[in-house]
Amino acid sequence: MNSFRRLLGYTLPYWRLIVISFIGAMGVAASDSAIAFSVGKVLKQIFTEKSHAIAVSMGPLFSTSFSINSLSIFRILPLALISLFVFRGLCRFVQQFCITYAGQLAVQDVRNVIYQRNMGLSLRFFNNNPTGVLMARVLNDVSLMQNGFSEVLMSVFRDTLTALGLLGLIFYLDWQLAVITIIVVPLMILPSRIIGRHLKRLAKLGLERISDLSCILQETFSGIKVIKAFGLEAREIIKFRTANLQFLNYAKKSLKYEALHAPILEVISSLGIASVIWFGGSHVLSGQMSADAFISFVVAMGMLYTPVKKLLNVYSLLQRSLGAAERVFEIIDEKPEITDRPDACSLERARGEVEFRNVTFSYNNEPVLLNVSLSARKGEVVALVGTSGAGKTTLVSLIPRFYDVENGSILIDGIDIRDVKLFDLLQQIALVDQETILFNETIANNIRYGKTDATDEEVERAARAAYAHDFIIEMAEGYQTNIGDRGVRISGGQKQRLCIARAILKNAPILILDEATSALDTESEQMVQQAINNLMSNRTTFVIAHRLSTILHADTIIVMDKGIVVERGSHRQLLEANGLYKKLYTMQFQGEDADARGTM
Ligand SMILES: Nc1ncnc2c1ncn2[C@@H]1O[C@H](COP(=O)(O)OP(=O)(O)OP(=O)(O)O)[C@@H](O)[C@H]1O
Ligand SMILES: [Mg+2]
Repeated sequence: MNSFRRLLGYTLPYWRLIVISFIGAMGVAASDSAIAFSVGKVLKQIFTEKSHAIAVSMGPLFSTSFSINSLSIFRILPLALISLFVFRGLCRFVQQFCITYAGQLAVQDVRNVIYQRNMGLSLRFFNNNPTGVLMARVLNDVSLMQNGFSEVLMSVFRDTLTALGLLGLIFYLDWQLAVITIIVVPLMILPSRIIGRHLKRLAKLGLERISDLSCILQETFSGIKVIKAFGLEAREIIKFRTANLQFLNYAKKSLKYEALHAPILEVISSLGIASVIWFGGSHVLSGQMSADAFISFVVAMGMLYTPVKKLLNVYSLLQRSLGAAERVFEIIDEKPEITDRPDACSLERARGEVEFRNVTFSYNNEPVLLNVSLSARKGEVVALVGTSGAGKTTLVSLIPRFYDVENGSILIDGIDIRDVKLFDLLQQIALVDQETILFNETIANNIRYGKTDATDEEVERAARAAYAHDFIIEMAEGYQTNIGDRGVRISGGQKQRLCIARAILKNAPILILDEATSALDTESEQMVQQAINNLMSNRTTFVIAHRLSTILHADTIIVMDKGIVVERGSHRQLLEANGLYKKLYTMQFQGEDADARGTM
């Protein structure tokens, strides 16, 4: 019920639409009662006129008065009926449109809130939740929640009011029969509750299966190259079919319950109708009830079961919708791990001194960094080298607070980064990742991720400094070329240079550079290297170095092994120390040494 109240909360801003819809619902309800009431009257009129007509054929005395009466009735009635239905139709339109639109608006807000909340969550959350699952939450879960909920909103007013109107009418016509009619309603509630409970459970399970599907889709489409390269299409197809089948199983169960609902209710309502005919017939025969009242009663009762059935059906729809809503609210309630402290201070442009003091960090329970201390003065280049899994990427990802340290602290210009507003902290840092991420936008806009309000001149200057300008203007639409999904239309080296241009444009005092390991051809390599040199100048740089030239460029080299800093110093000092660095250097770079020195 909590989720229900929260869902309703999202519709509150649209109360005007709901009020209009409510008025429409009253119109529909009034028309329905009027229709039921007049059916009896009309039939009575027809039958009494018919007996008059027989009388008339026997005696011409009444003929004049009769013909006027019957003509007017038979001309007016159809017209009245049409008007009544036109009025009802209008009310119905207003009622349905306003309420479902309000539902859509509310759901749109929910979707925006989820997305916004997701953006605020830490990397740890995204590591633990696959992309496909998150996509399914924003798309499917919200849709399922919305379908049920709109339906519920629409039906609740209309059917409740219609039911109340018809109920009033049958009590007015014959209260004893009315009591018999409504006795069966409680009998209908029990099966509805049971079915509703099953539907809610199945909805949640079904959505989990949709998440699986979405996950497979996301992985296979983004990893299509690997799948094709290894010829694993058939295996992926089987994986997808299996997941799809599992979803079908839940859908089938859920459809069964839904299909069972109406027949059960109809059988129960037939009990009511049968008893009314049984008892009502005797009321008519004994003269306690007139024939036209009885007809109106039966019509009204028939009409009454429809909204009641709908309301009960809405209950099960609501349960299904709440199953989805619970999943949606789970995400909305996810607490962001990394937030501003209440007393966080602002930071304009930092000088760029960075210090790690006894930093310890672990992802789960195993420490990945242990008592790491190091410092970088303004403008210095610190190169991180070490075995794979030593903790280099982890170390640099603590500076922008992708994760918070477990023990110790990180300081920028002597201030603990946890005391600075997160937004301000991130303004101090430019990051070029090992994996080049470009968005499905124009080249200019991709570079502008570094500084959203940059002018065209600034973008071009950054691109020139990143050695990207020349290849950009060779493209059909220059800076306005759309890169397409994941930058498929440009080469690896070009992508890297675009990412470098982005970082140059940001012009932050601290730079984090995770050098790409992918080997480029010599020409590309040289351009990327020059672009990187431009990027590093005048910035405090932490670089996870895979190129010897970068290492030789560094002021300090930090050698890491299993989360511990094992050596530090300049290239020459470290070679002389004859430790891990010497070993790594011999394995990776010796051959490159001569070339690198040649280019520097
Ligand atoms: N998101 C994560 N969740 C859990 N453990 C992680 C995560 N990322 C890294 N690790 C673990 O932390 C350790 C250090 O990883 P890290 O990525 O920092 O190494 P690295 O030095 O950058 O290695 P490489 O040179 O291969 O990039 C590894 O043992 C790794 O398994
Ligand atoms: Mg790494």
